[in-house]
Amino acid sequence: MLQDGIASPEHALARLRLPTSALCDYNIGMYGLINVAVRDLVVSQFGETAWADILAKSEVDESAFIRMGLNDDAVTYALVGAASEVLDLPASDILQAFGQYWTEFTVEEGYGELLDGFGSTLPALVQNLDELHTRVALIYEGLRPPSFKCENVTDGSMDLHYISERDGLDDLVIGLLKGLGKRFKVDVTVEQQSRKADGAPHSVFYVTWA
Ligand code: HEM
Repeated sequence: MLQDGIASPEHALARLRLPTSALCDYNIGMYGLINVAVRDLVVSQFGETAWADILAKSEVDESAFIRMGLNDDAVTYALVGAASEVLDLPASDILQAFGQYWTEFTVEEGYGELLDGFGSTLPALVQNLDELHTRVALIYEGLRPPSFKCENVTDGSMDLHYISERDGLDDLVIGLLKGLGKRFKVDVTVEQQSRKADGAPHSVFYVTWA
């Protein structure tokens, strides 16, 4: 049930050039692109019926998904919560699966070159994530991306500081890093060292790759 107004992947690049300023009169929230990715992941792995159940439970109006529009973050959180109930999986599993999926989804959506341009190895890309999101923000006006700081970088490890105004997305970061590992064909392990949810100023991960 692909709804109207959602571009096919081959149109994604053309869509990026659409002016977005008119959309910025609304409350700023996670971009609809993320919700579309959640839907694609659920439909491809669990089917249309599961997606329909998740939508019903989350009380999210599917027409609220605007690929280039600004959705309230609450939509994304409601979807993750409903997916966790309907699929009987912990929210942490859903977020990790989504993080892994995002690295493939963005490539399908025409952002592969962007990813290529910001690093040809896992540590290079991770060290350039702020620049990458700054570039994305040129297209997506009003973006509030997270910030990542890398410390103690060696040939096979780093401490990764994840600074975000949002809460509860640590598992998304873990999934993203695993997805990047797949992209760069390296085995990635992620150990959480501190959690914002436990009162730390921000979350920190010890990341290794080999
Ligand atoms: C070309 C690829 C990418 C694109 C187009 C992209 C785009 C975005 C967009 C649109 C958002 C929503 C921000 C908002 O609504 O204010 C976001 C958030 C986020 N991005 Fe990226 N991103 C990309 C790659 C990555 C990668 C590789 C990581 C790896 C760690 C990452 C980490 C995150 C995280 C953790 C968030 C959640 C927001 C938060 O914590 O506040 N992104 N990104």
